[in-house]
Amino acid sequence: MSVLACIHAAILLASCRLLHCQETFDFPHSDFGTVADGSLTINSTVLLNDGTSIPLFGLGVYRSQPGEETEDAVRWALQYGYRHVDTASRYRNEESVGRAVMDSGISREEIFITTKIFNDDHGYEKTLAAGRASLAKLGTGYIDLLLMHAPGEQTVSTWQAMIQLKEEGVCRSVGVSNFGVHHLEELHKATGVTPSVNQIEVSPYLQRRDIVDYCQAHGIAVEGYSPLTKGVKLDDPMLVKIAAKYPGKTTAHVLIRWSVQQRYITIPKSAKKERIQANIDVFDFNLDEEDMAELETLEEYLLTGWDPTVDEWKP
Ligand SMILES: NC(=O)c1ccc[n+]([C@@H]2O[C@H](COP(=O)([O-])OP(=O)(O)OC[C@H]3O[C@@H](n4cnc5c(N)ncnc54)[C@H](OP(=O)(O)O)[C@@H]3O)[C@@H](O)[C@H]2O)c1
Repeated sequence: MSVLACIHAAILLASCRLLHCQETFDFPHSDFGTVADGSLTINSTVLLNDGTSIPLFGLGVYRSQPGEETEDAVRWALQYGYRHVDTASRYRNEESVGRAVMDSGISREEIFITTKIFNDDHGYEKTLAAGRASLAKLGTGYIDLLLMHAPGEQTVSTWQAMIQLKEEGVCRSVGVSNFGVHHLEELHKATGVTPSVNQIEVSPYLQRRDIVDYCQAHGIAVEGYSPLTKGVKLDDPMLVKIAAKYPGKTTAHVLIRWSVQQRYITIPKSAKKERIQANIDVFDFNLDEEDMAELETLEEYLLTGWDPTVDEWKP
């Protein structure tokens, strides 16, 4: 390359970076920082590295029974202002999620739906079929975010099929779940395509600084699952003490607020109407620096489910 061509390429690169910064700056919740921000609202979104946006807060439906239970949960959630639902083929409730979304009277574009490719559908052809089958069950025209549920033995071909599904319009964004740093590095090395999201279990009891730091350094949005520790830590005296500082707030609110305040996309699950209503009530208070520092001391590598970030899960 001539000197002139080099200079031209450098100017082009610099202006692309500047453009990217400006774009990023235009979105108030697009930085993946961890600093508390009193301006978070239920409408806050995170800008993904492919230019789409995902609502910061949503409803999880793992272990919501297919049929009435899931349909009711999604219907109530949408009534209370949720605009984001996290399901998976493994949860067997995609049809119920789709029905509640399509019957809600809310425009499809306003609702964000995530589903996932499970490990027994890994491999190029099986993943193509699984993605299309998920969309058919949802009946929502497109999937907003398709995640690989966990790394496995055919991670690369699975990822390549997911990219193909995105090109076909089956989904708008692709990401991964339960990926450790080495999985993310290997995926990037093999395909050069960075996931938009890594959905991992995260809470004050499982802070995963290594994965979070890697994601934030590489423009991968962190989505935190099991933000309520599946309920096991809701009586922790530290949480009780912090909740008592904020009138009307519970230990569940403290955990959800901790997560959104870290700018982690946060998807608490409940199938109960009152809890679905209560869990969204985390945008009118702010955990202060002292609370955040105390919560940081709770780290104990608490896993409430599986941990494919370290051990590859085999069906
Ligand atoms: N990618 C993955 O591998 C993965 C793994 C796990 C979860 N996820 C996703 O993340 C979502 C959330 O995680 P999760 O379901 O494991 O756990 P979670 O949200 O931490 O906790 C859910 C549990 O807490 C209870 N609960 C909800 N709100 C409550 C409140 N205000 N007070 C007391 N208890 C409350 C729920 O019971 P009720 O329903 O009876 O209210 C349920 O038993 C899942 O639904 C799923 O979408 C992904």
